[in-house]
Amino acid sequence: MPASTPSLLHRLLASPTLYHALRHGLLGGLPFKEWVTLYGLDDPNQRVADLGCGPADILRYVPTAHQPAAYLGIDFDVDYLARAEALATRLKLNATFVNIDLTKLSTDSATQQQLTGLLERERIDRVLLLGVIHHLDDASARSTLDLIFSVPSVKTVVTQDVAVVPGHGVNNFLAARDRGQFVRTELQYQELLASTRWPGRRVTWTRPGFRVAKYIHFTLTRDVL
Ligand SMILES: C[S@@+](CC[C@H](N)C(=O)[O-])C[C@H]1O[C@@H](n2cnc3c(N)ncnc32)[C@H](O)[C@@H]1O
Repeated sequence: MPASTPSLLHRLLASPTLYHALRHGLLGGLPFKEWVTLYGLDDPNQRVADLGCGPADILRYVPTAHQPAAYLGIDFDVDYLARAEALATRLKLNATFVNIDLTKLSTDSATQQQLTGLLERERIDRVLLLGVIHHLDDASARSTLDLIFSVPSVKTVVTQDVAVVPGHGVNNFLAARDRGQFVRTELQYQELLASTRWPGRRVTWTRPGFRVAKYIHFTLTRDVL
């Protein structure tokens, strides 16, 4: 008998189809169009790496005429990667998908070289970490961000996470049931990101249609903002 049995909600969220439908339906629609612009996914000049891409649902909201020049999707879940790849093929996106476990980046030099090699080979300008940092402990998140910084072509990182927000009961109820084990407060995200090599940092908040939840985003840059 395992120490803790996954809840029904956690097991439902493990299905890519249900994950997308539940997130979108329960929250009254996620602000995908706003996110596409915030993440630079509608900029044909951008070569984008999406770390922890999952099934890459956001690609559905990228205008066909404004696709990024390249999209590199990385995840450690092969089912998600297969689904993301099928979607990218259907959308005729110039895309590559690779299986990497980001938690290995703090200790494993072969995985470090694999990630930096991919970012260099694909001449990536922008890295996205969408819904991912709250799945990573501080050491893994810091190693991932510092490795990305070591690749000169990458000018910008944009993140998205759920957060514990004082006084926002529904948001915090949902955050406590998130599959990520490292949901932080804004201050804790700020302190983590301040400990990385990225000097510039700007925070943005977005909300779904029902406005009961809040998403925190950081834009990290090589210049102080
Ligand atoms: C909340 S989902 C977000 C998926 C997608 N980025 C989105 O915004 O819809 C978190 C994603 O991070 C991936 N992930 C979590 N831990 C990871 C790790 N250690 N290495 C690689 N991917 C990871 C999960 O497989 C999942 O696809």
